[in-house]
Amino acid sequence: MSRNETVKEIAERLSIVDIVAEYVSLRRSGSNFTGLCPFHSEKTPSFNVNPAREIFHCFGCGAGGDVFTFVMKIEGLSFPETVRKLAARAGVAFDEYPATEEEKKLRSEKDLQRKIMLLTAQHYREILTGRQDGEAARNYLLERDVDQETAAAYGLGYAPERRDTLVRLLGNRELPLETAERLGIIRKGEHGWYDLLHHRLVFPIRDTQGQPIGFAGRVLDNSLPKYINSPESPIYHKSNVLFGIDLALREIRQNGTAIIVEGYFDHLTLHSAGIRNVLATCGTALTDGHINLLKKHAQRVCLLFDGDNAGRKATVKAMELCLEQSMPVYVINLPQGEDPDSFIKKNGAEAFNQKAASAKPAFEQFLHWLLNKTPADSIDQRVRLMNEITPRFQLIKDPVERNLYQNEICRLLGIDPNAFRKRVSTQRKDTRPEPHQVNIKPSTCCNVTDVTQETLLGILAAYPEAREKISSFNLAELFDNDYLPIVKAVLDAEAVDGRDTIWHDILSRLEQEHQKALVARLLIQDRYLAEIDWRTALTQCLKSREKARTRELKPIAARLATLPQDSEEYLEVLKYAEQLRNRKSTL
Ligand code: UTP
Ligand code: MN
Repeated sequence: MSRNETVKEIAERLSIVDIVAEYVSLRRSGSNFTGLCPFHSEKTPSFNVNPAREIFHCFGCGAGGDVFTFVMKIEGLSFPETVRKLAARAGVAFDEYPATEEEKKLRSEKDLQRKIMLLTAQHYREILTGRQDGEAARNYLLERDVDQETAAAYGLGYAPERRDTLVRLLGNRELPLETAERLGIIRKGEHGWYDLLHHRLVFPIRDTQGQPIGFAGRVLDNSLPKYINSPESPIYHKSNVLFGIDLALREIRQNGTAIIVEGYFDHLTLHSAGIRNVLATCGTALTDGHINLLKKHAQRVCLLFDGDNAGRKATVKAMELCLEQSMPVYVINLPQGEDPDSFIKKNGAEAFNQKAASAKPAFEQFLHWLLNKTPADSIDQRVRLMNEITPRFQLIKDPVERNLYQNEICRLLGIDPNAFRKRVSTQRKDTRPEPHQVNIKPSTCCNVTDVTQETLLGILAAYPEAREKISSFNLAELFDNDYLPIVKAVLDAEAVDGRDTIWHDILSRLEQEHQKALVARLLIQDRYLAEIDWRTALTQCLKSREKARTRELKPIAARLATLPQDSEEYLEVLKYAEQLRNRKSTL
């Protein structure tokens, strides 16, 4: 089979809804499915999947395309890698096809980044384990009871006091410093290149395969900032990465529960106490991206943040994200002022396991905290409590759970269940707009000409009769360079079994992600095309396109006035103006 046939075959066998549903919880809404976009953080769903056309589009961030685009984006894979993965899933056999030049370049850039990160991790590790200038860090680990085995499991290292050891190492190996800079491990200042980390204990941040993608450095004393973290980079996307995943994955899959802690040291202490199903956020709040990652491996999440106010706030926020995505979420409650590290040191692993076994559903814990802070002892207080509770209660999807919580809330607050239900349903209308009202026009961000071109493109794809007519025009005059490849794909695409299959073929003919996203956007919202007569629309589009062109006439006349009449340029501009004028008169 050829590359295109393989891709087509895979697409036919798989359902985009099934694939997307593994990462996003979807709800049917008309002819589409909607959910929270996995590619940006949002509270109301603007992510749409259309099963008939096998495409997705997010009105929030503009991401869109077919099932291949989706898997590429969410898994961070290249196109061939994605085809390989989906082929296996669809049971389609295919011969490895040769990589394109662009793919080769991308792969070698990725290999280079990987090599640099590995070398960096080894460099810091060697200094910690073997070199004299690693002494201070070795003492620090002794002080904190970190044994060598644990240090090795994490690949801990030490960035020495000098600020150029990494820069020099990379230079000696003739590795490009610009790439290292993009990875965030070195920087360029007035006096040249310098290392991001120095005089710090180094935690490599690793992906599921154990490959270092970033670093965090902790001071060895009480100075500030306590940690310096690698910035976002081409391989390190903080909202999709949880620390310790390589060490925890097996246990999480077996156990079903992922315990989430805040700190690197919390993770380390739990790990060395034999509690292995643990992940840590890397100095950022939990995001939808993290929940998506968790959903792939865990059945439930257990939040274990510090027992202070900040920790509670973070817990409630994380609970909201989990509830929104129907991820069962629990809380392990530590005594005020303790973090997992200090708790284990004081009370041991057994006490911790008891705490973990009695983890409370997060919503129950939230109610408990809330009522402790604000007792329901006056009408005013009860109303205030309701304002806090309602938006979170609305996130609970399971009807049985809802009912149980409703009873409990009404009992605690002394509220009539009917009044509660009413409040919940009216508040919803105010705070959660339906995603479909968001965007009806083809586009909100582009100028008039773009809208015209997009309408034309929509017509072209939706009406085979229009295709013939439009292709009789000079396409380069009708469409900008941005749209031309797409138009060409539309005209080349074969409509075998009617309209919906043609979209598929169009998408597979487009190579660039933004082109696919554009087509997906047109597809998701092409209902407006069904309501217009294509002939009228075509005429209107052609007119406004031509008008936009003839608008150029004014500045051209002005330009002519400035040019000497015997110059070559004058003649050229004149000729062009004539053409424009002629075209105008035929409109
Ligand atoms: P903590 O201050 O609780 O640190 O911050 P910790 O990991 O428990 O370390 P120890 O036990 O005090 O040595 C929790 C997490 O917040 C992020 C880090 O991810 C840290 O692990 N953080 C904290 C930063 O990113 N930068 C900082 O300056 C402080
Ligand atoms: Mn801590």
